[in-house]
Amino acid sequence: MRNKIEFFLNGKRTEAGPEDASLMLADYLRTRRGLTGTKIVCAEGDCGACTVLRLFPHAPGTDAQNFLPTNACITLVAQLDGSSLVTVDALKDGEKLHETQRAMIACHGSQCGFCTPGFVMALTGLVEEKLARGETRVDEREAKNGLTGNLCRCTGYLPIIDAAVSMNLAECSSLSERFYTQTQRTALEEVFSKSTLVENESFSFFAPKTIEEAIAHLARHPETRILGSGTDMSVVHNKRRTTLSRLLGLHLISALYEIREEAGIIHLGARVTHAEFRHFLKARVPEFARYLDVFAGPQIKNMGTVVGNIATASPIGDTPPAFLALDAVVVVRGVAGEREIPMSQFFLSYRKTAIAPGEIITHVKFPIPEGTTDLRFYKSSNRKDLDISAVNLAIRVDWKDRERREIRDVCVAAGGVAAVPHRFVRTENLLRQRYDLDAAVRELHSEITPISDLRASAAFRRVILENLFRKFFREVAP
Ligand SMILES: Cc1cc2nc3c(=O)[nH]c(=O)nc-3n(C[C@H](O)[C@H](O)[C@H](O)COP(=O)(O)OP(=O)(O)OC[C@H]3O[C@@H](n4cnc5c(N)ncnc54)[C@H](O)[C@@H]3O)c2cc1C
Ligand code: FES
Ligand code: FES
Repeated sequence: MRNKIEFFLNGKRTEAGPEDASLMLADYLRTRRGLTGTKIVCAEGDCGACTVLRLFPHAPGTDAQNFLPTNACITLVAQLDGSSLVTVDALKDGEKLHETQRAMIACHGSQCGFCTPGFVMALTGLVEEKLARGETRVDEREAKNGLTGNLCRCTGYLPIIDAAVSMNLAECSSLSERFYTQTQRTALEEVFSKSTLVENESFSFFAPKTIEEAIAHLARHPETRILGSGTDMSVVHNKRRTTLSRLLGLHLISALYEIREEAGIIHLGARVTHAEFRHFLKARVPEFARYLDVFAGPQIKNMGTVVGNIATASPIGDTPPAFLALDAVVVVRGVAGEREIPMSQFFLSYRKTAIAPGEIITHVKFPIPEGTTDLRFYKSSNRKDLDISAVNLAIRVDWKDRERREIRDVCVAAGGVAAVPHRFVRTENLLRQRYDLDAAVRELHSEITPISDLRASAAFRRVILENLFRKFFREVAP
């Protein structure tokens, strides 16, 4: 058992005890390490000024061996355990600027400069991705997508996009060559092989190697909170100044990174991020992959777990309606063993789920929709990128006879219209009996209790829901 957090910071082996481990990474870099290149603006994961690049070698998936952009303002230092981190301060190689830095200067991509390190790091993440694929140019669309997690108040975005598309990647070598050497690789494998417990009077972070140890720890310390990647928990911590004092990290449990398809069923482990899930879904459930394009920005998708999005049980979370429509099942483990909770029985009331104290979600599973099925997910938010839904809607229809409008099975679920992600059981029953869209819309309205808040009024939510519902049937059965 280790008693520290171990990682590489700009190529140097680094250890953190409980005092440092309990800090947000951006604060740690600036105040404890004097690395002030990383800026803090929103402290909520929204603006990207704090973007750093992190490689976590043990996460399987597409970009696992890449340095990925993540937000330092909502990452606890404890979460760095087993990672290699690069900050903007180390980007320059000797006297030579990184190509992203050169391009930003050449295209006048900076004015006050507050956002600039974050843009440079997000662009460098894009460069790393491109180099891994052997590509030498970034096009405008890729640049815009890659920068959806970054905001600038001064220059306007055009010079920054110009910088991105002007980069000559033949001039770049991968950061892995400098910051993920064989020595590091071996050292991080060693870190990953042992549990760690980092604690003092006010903070405790336990990261076990097995799910059994995790369950035993929760039984001994019921006040412990499970930490996914903190993209929800750390925002609440920063905003409301709540303390994250006793945490269980699952990052050393290899089995939880698993994502696989078996006999038409997808098994999605609790540590799989949105970026990894999206990549896996592309060929299997393309509609879900497309929907995840407008989920947060790259930094959050690289960090946040899909299971965290379910467990947090937000009524406006984007994946819960999708999983409801797919008839997913949540698999949990506790001292009494394993049990399966159908997604339709998972959300009990506002932010309350069917997970019992001491239980951990190990994975979620769902069937891949068959050929006779139409599946659509819709998201309506005030801003296209990096925004939380006002309303979202997921519909799956399995046709008995599409021409005659006969439905074998249907599932309708939405967020933003009730205290929980809502499944429209009465509307579904009506549609199974008869294809009468006006009657179905009346039923739809009778099932919901939307509220007015800063995202949308209750009346607007009703209009959006009805329009998206009608749009679905117009698209699939014109
Ligand atoms: C800038 C920004 C943009 C965002 N955009 C979106 C968006 O577009 N759509 C959207 O839906 N959400 C969005 N989110 C919310 C957030 O990113 C997601 O909810 C994310 O998936 C949460 O995962 P996590 O691993 O970070 O969870 P954490 O914050 O670590 O945990 C969330 C909750 O889940 C619990 N939990 C985690 N893992 C387990 C487990 N294995 N077993 C039991 N409980 C567990 C934790 O205890 C906690 O209560 C955004 C957040 C930010 C900061
Ligand atoms: S400071 Fe804005 S995302 Fe971190
Ligand atoms: S240059 Fe000022 S915020 Fe971007």
